[in-house]
Amino acid sequence: MGWYILDLVPEHAIPKYRAKITALGCYTPPGLLTNQDLEQMVDTNNQWILERTGIAQRHIATPDVATSDMAVEAARIALEQRGIEAGELDAIVVCTVTPDMLFPATACLVQNRLGAKGAWGFDLVAACSGFIYGLTTAAHLVSAGSHKKVLVIGSDTMSRIIDYTDRSTCVLFGDGAGAMLIEPTEDGEVGFIDFVNEIDGSGGDYLKQPAGGSRMPATAETVKNRLHFVKQDGSQVFKYAVRKMFESSRELLQRNDVSCSRVAAFIPHQANRRIITAAADRLGLNCEKVIINIDQYGNTTAATIPLATRDAIQAGKLKKGDLVVFAAVGAGYTVGTNLWRWEF
Ligand code: UT7
Repeated sequence: MGWYILDLVPEHAIPKYRAKITALGCYTPPGLLTNQDLEQMVDTNNQWILERTGIAQRHIATPDVATSDMAVEAARIALEQRGIEAGELDAIVVCTVTPDMLFPATACLVQNRLGAKGAWGFDLVAACSGFIYGLTTAAHLVSAGSHKKVLVIGSDTMSRIIDYTDRSTCVLFGDGAGAMLIEPTEDGEVGFIDFVNEIDGSGGDYLKQPAGGSRMPATAETVKNRLHFVKQDGSQVFKYAVRKMFESSRELLQRNDVSCSRVAAFIPHQANRRIITAAADRLGLNCEKVIINIDQYGNTTAATIPLATRDAIQAGKLKKGDLVVFAAVGAGYTVGTNLWRWEF
């Protein structure tokens, strides 16, 4: 549940502080995996991938690069953009399904590498909705008044958990990271407005990494059966994603009395171009406002939202004062949407 209606907020319901996004940093590894490369690896072709997914290439990390490494790169860019030291951070939230290891949390590894001596933090596991859950959490930490600088990082090295003999999943995913800094504002016109987040565990079997946890620890058998890779029922996930991305975004806009014409940018999770356009069409959004960069990066899980935000800014589609909707659906199932007024 969100807390208040844009422009109609009773004074007593306004939290003391509102949260704004003050910096953005992104990192993608330089190595590319193109559709032509995939044609050499599995029974697929460029035309099928482009038509069915919209993806032309993905960035892939070299074997020595892990999720924390990409997270640190993105974090450093965000800190530099804001002109602050890591020691000023109060908390670090790392959204990922590909942590360096199950524990310690990747947030701890990132905190240490950055030298963020005053920060606490944790990993947030919500797959493709991870970054939006991270933003929601950070906005509330800041608006509570207890935190002044929270860094939300989405970082996923999906290539480590993808089966490059399975054509139904290997064409979809790529590696990358993005970070946003959340700080308080006293300007009532900017920042975090509302959210609609949901989980629905009844869909858990449709998209998962079956082995490696306490249910199915790693054995020679699980490795032989390739159970440490992503397994997906693509058409189930597809249908759910279109419906929930539409429904949650509609609820978010309706209860804040925001029409599509007032939204400057709709920044969706990038899983499949057809999911995005189907959801945006149902919402009645002008396609110019719908940010799509899946052709360049594929699905980078927790990193898609910051990467697409950066590209929206660079394309002049997101400017200070604009209303922006972030929307995602992912494994779990998880569903997340946020409404913000953009700050820079
Ligand atoms: O972030 C959340 C994570 N995931 C998603 O959101 C993914 C959601 N799902 C999807 O994006 C789509 O379901 C896929 C891209 C995974 C699949 O597209 P589709 O249009 O739903 O295809 P399909 O699974 O219905 O398969 C159609 C055909 C099948 O062949 P037959 O049985 O009709 O002969 C597949 O075997 O396409 C075949 N196929 C491929 N052909 C060439 C599946 N993958 C490939 C491939 N290249 N890579």
